[in-house]
Amino acid sequence: MSARIPTPTPQPSQHLRELLGADLVLTGPEIAPYCSDWHGDVQSDAVAVLRPRSTEQVAACLIAARETGLAVVPQGGRSGLVLGAVPDAPAQQVVLTLERMNTIRRIDPDDFSVEAEAGVILQTLKDRLAEEGLFFPLSLGAQGNCQIGGNLSTNAGGLNVLRYGMTRDLVLGLEVVLPDGRILDLRSRLRKDNRGIDLKQLFIGAEGTLGVITAATLKLFPQPEQVATALLALDRLEDVITLYRRARRQCCDLMSAFEFLPPLAFTLAREASPDLPAPMAMDAPAYALIELSGSGLVDINALMEQFLSVVMQDGLVRDGVVAQSHSQARSLWMVREGMNAGQARRGRHLRTDLSVPLSALAEFVARTEAAIRQALPGAICVTYGHVGDGNVHLNVLPAPDGDIDMQLKTAKTIIHEILARFEGSISAEHGIGRLKRADFEAELPPLRREMLETLRRAIDPGLMMNPGCQFRMRDDAPK
Ligand code: FAD
Ligand code: LAC
Ligand code: ZN
Repeated sequence: MSARIPTPTPQPSQHLRELLGADLVLTGPEIAPYCSDWHGDVQSDAVAVLRPRSTEQVAACLIAARETGLAVVPQGGRSGLVLGAVPDAPAQQVVLTLERMNTIRRIDPDDFSVEAEAGVILQTLKDRLAEEGLFFPLSLGAQGNCQIGGNLSTNAGGLNVLRYGMTRDLVLGLEVVLPDGRILDLRSRLRKDNRGIDLKQLFIGAEGTLGVITAATLKLFPQPEQVATALLALDRLEDVITLYRRARRQCCDLMSAFEFLPPLAFTLAREASPDLPAPMAMDAPAYALIELSGSGLVDINALMEQFLSVVMQDGLVRDGVVAQSHSQARSLWMVREGMNAGQARRGRHLRTDLSVPLSALAEFVARTEAAIRQALPGAICVTYGHVGDGNVHLNVLPAPDGDIDMQLKTAKTIIHEILARFEGSISAEHGIGRLKRADFEAELPPLRREMLETLRRAIDPGLMMNPGCQFRMRDDAPK
């Protein structure tokens, strides 16, 4: 029996409407936004967009897609950076958006947990929890758009990983609709449960290739009552890493973020938000954005002051600014978060998401930037990110008057060659999607690929879930 899904029935969108009703099936020009990526680099198409309102309707959508001979591309807030949610076979695929499944089902303050549907926007969840004095620590620049289901499916990282872990570390339970329409209920409020293999982990980071996540129970923390934020100027990336190590030891476990920014950060952020106030002179070679946070009897501001006075006396930090209000702290974060929108405005560029061991990070960045400068003198390297996690986005803005494709290709080749020598990862937090599939496949050892294929085929024998995402199944590969 072939593992491929059958070819679509004639007039597939009509067929879907008959099976599901018009309310659930969107077609025509309105589907265009559901078929593009955040940067606007790619515009695709699909047979239809399915918009279920409940877990049962998700199940019905998957069954209807199978009966119509269509594959399904699950979709959250479309902020993913690797084209995992963008269809690549328009005549054979439907998008299944979770945007209507946006209910926070229950908040359990005594258990420090929440159950939310997959389509709840991360910022909406965080705001609602803050009203109860609770905190869900996942934080990223796209939190006003991305959804819980997308965060889980990409195992998103972001700004607070060094203290709270990746999304995977924040999940207690899941509700998933399997490709055949059965509902797998793995919801739980238990912190400890070692009854056999932890099945929910399979779906976290699967990028929609094994089923549709419809809800999750998540771990919460007390909302930090005190937050201290500082932007510091340093002489080089090595010093930023030395500073990180010292903060790690001297600020106890109270450091919640430690980000690295280049001097170009403010210029880029201002290109996206022209009213952004300049936090300080941005002419040092390197910047660190640090956040300490906590509640109760600890004095977070005093800790920040003490820490900064020592590292400034030592000459490690040459200048700095400590936010005096919530809105000043927000402006400092906007410099960091606005960098992505700023780069998007500069047009097509190479975006990367690399990790190497922390001890090798400064050398890796120095060597890679030097090699790119030599090969592409007109291109600009924009390196920034989650230094505490050994994770940087070493992006390359090509010279606008040169051959863009050639520059992007050359820069990527250089980066991957050096990264391999450092035994690093081509995807620290964004996933593989369709954008990095070829690079992922090229480095996938045969046994690991065999296990991944076996798993996918066992859960999705019809190979209808997000084909083309992460890696191609052999039946699915171009001959
Ligand atoms: P989408 O983009 O819609 O989908 C992502 C993948 O998940 C796709 O493969 C899709 O098929 C699958 N999927 C979505 N929902 C479901 C579901 N319910 N069930 C099954 N599969 C599903 N990422 C980081 O890790 N750290 C960062 O710091 C970070 N910062 C960012 C900043 C900006 C400005 C932008 C634009 C993006 C950033 N990202 C970051 C990337 C992105 O925000 C994350 O990957 C996010 O988790 C994607 O969520 P989404 O809801 O937008 O998912
Ligand atoms: C960030 C995204 C690109 O850290 O992951 O801004
Ligand atoms: Zn990032």
